[in-house]
Amino acid sequence: MVALVSSSPSQHSAGRLTLQVADIAADTIAIRCLDWDRDRFDIEFELQNGTTYNSFLVQGDQTALIDTSHRKFRELYMDRLVQQTDLAALDYLIVNHTEPDHSGLIQDVLDRAPHVTVVGSKVAIQFLENMMHRPFQSRVVKSGHTLDLGQGHELEFVSAPNLHWPDTIFTYDVATQVLFTCDVFGMHYCDDFMLDEVPHLLEPDFQYYYNCLMGPNARSVLMALKRMDKLTVSLIATGHGPLLQQHCDSWVGKYRTWSQNQAKAETLVALFYVDEYGHSDRLARTIAGGIMKTGVAVELVDLSVADSHEVRELVHCAAGIVIGMPPQTGEGSATHPGLSTILATATHRQGFGLFETGGGHDEPLYPFRAQLQELGLSEAFPPILIKASPTATTDQLCDEAGTDLGQQLTQVQMVKQSKALESGLDRALGRISSGLYIITAQKDDVNSAMLASWVIQASFEPLGVAIAVAKDRAIESLLHVGDHWVLNVLEEGRYQPLVKHFLKRFPPGSDRFSGIDTYPAHNGSPILAQALAYLECEVTSRLEASDHWIICATVQTGRVSKPDGLTAVHHRKVGNHY
Ligand SMILES: Cc1cc2nc3c(=O)[nH]c(=O)nc-3n(C[C@H](O)[C@H](O)[C@H](O)COP(=O)(O)O)c2cc1C
Repeated sequence: MVALVSSSPSQHSAGRLTLQVADIAADTIAIRCLDWDRDRFDIEFELQNGTTYNSFLVQGDQTALIDTSHRKFRELYMDRLVQQTDLAALDYLIVNHTEPDHSGLIQDVLDRAPHVTVVGSKVAIQFLENMMHRPFQSRVVKSGHTLDLGQGHELEFVSAPNLHWPDTIFTYDVATQVLFTCDVFGMHYCDDFMLDEVPHLLEPDFQYYYNCLMGPNARSVLMALKRMDKLTVSLIATGHGPLLQQHCDSWVGKYRTWSQNQAKAETLVALFYVDEYGHSDRLARTIAGGIMKTGVAVELVDLSVADSHEVRELVHCAAGIVIGMPPQTGEGSATHPGLSTILATATHRQGFGLFETGGGHDEPLYPFRAQLQELGLSEAFPPILIKASPTATTDQLCDEAGTDLGQQLTQVQMVKQSKALESGLDRALGRISSGLYIITAQKDDVNSAMLASWVIQASFEPLGVAIAVAKDRAIESLLHVGDHWVLNVLEEGRYQPLVKHFLKRFPPGSDRFSGIDTYPAHNGSPILAQALAYLECEVTSRLEASDHWIICATVQTGRVSKPDGLTAVHHRKVGNHY
């Protein structure tokens, strides 16, 4: 039973920030920092419902604080924390995960309570030692270790590496059966409800969060679930969004099903990188996102914590390998041990791609590339060399490179599937005809375009259109809710040059409008000068239709360039091609 203790509103330059404090179990208090207006998180992660950063206090004979909060909550959080507990008597600060949105106030806690023992995984403590400007007492824990706070509050730790970050642990209180999981089982969802009372409202955010942060490490999720199975859990106290109590088993079941499906997927790419090196994390996750658009699973592995057995296993079952070059070991000319293991296990049937992380002391990329090519592996995209901070443009490059690798690995399968479709039904479906269009979109410095025929008018009031966009299209990432784009209508008898141009295979990150006459629409997207007509559109919703997204949009404005011109018509013979 949850009793609300207080809720204190406050305005901040970063948006509306409020605090919610409540008893969530015996001797256990949640301090939830509600960030109502946060609209961006990590890469490509657009928030519609804000987020929360949840921190917890457990009081036995000794007191433990579990995770802190984002720096933007410094005053609100610290004021409230000292009301809730005497920091001079605080014994432990448990860090389930060191990402700044949870660890942003550790320094402040240590400033006021320098005697506190910080508890975390080995990797977490190493990260914190680099981050903190002061020495601190620490205790490294892993699965099976316990910490007795007294009054029955024996805390058990569960290692959950790679569940978003390599440092993750869960903390379980035997007395209350509360499992504190930080990022895991979270969602970016901010409202006054402390618990998961109305699951259907939360499901889309829960799944989106899983897909973005946990899906890339499905095998690690399954390992962590296996360790969790030994525990009786009554409440999952996550670090983001509502706490999961009313439908706890169902949420865990969803993680299990999604991860099993992901891990079972026929095709897997093993993506090796060193998380805390250069811009590795962002590049790795963006490439992974591009690969996953093609339905290929990705396992992200931090080479600084993975053992050689794990690396070998993954290379063995992967159809493709992506490597973010790790820092040099510094021991003479010896190659990084992770790279040596990959070379010893890789086979000629695999595809690969390499990227440099901008760390400054990378293992040399080109000699390693030559070694993989000598083994017969085929390169799916040219090496990505990032020196400065990543931008939207480099994100697009990485996303498209990942998609190219995924498409290379699934090509044979796709051809087989489309052949298997030949039938009377297929020919009947092919009688559905359509027009021909080029969809164009521009977002910040990034643009893209695609030839489309699956386009319909979808509403009168407001005026709306819908398009079907395959999940692995490059332009897909520019067609999220709120994004602007232009529907360029092609003209009968004059469409061939544009169709030929936009059907080219564009290398990752290349300019698709080079050599094409365009001018900007009011919404910023390119209008093709050779189009018969154009419509300026804004995405209002996206519906998942297995291998395509149905993108619904309202139309703001439009024009016809030649009043008597006719729209290019597209007739097909079969329904298994556009
Ligand atoms: C006649 C024709 C119509 C097409 N219509 C669509 C469509 O409606 N939706 C879609 O996702 N792809 C469609 N495509 C496929 C894309 O235009 C094509 O694969 C393009 O090269 C996308 O490449 P990209 O993934 O690199 O952006 C069509 C292709 C052709 C030939």
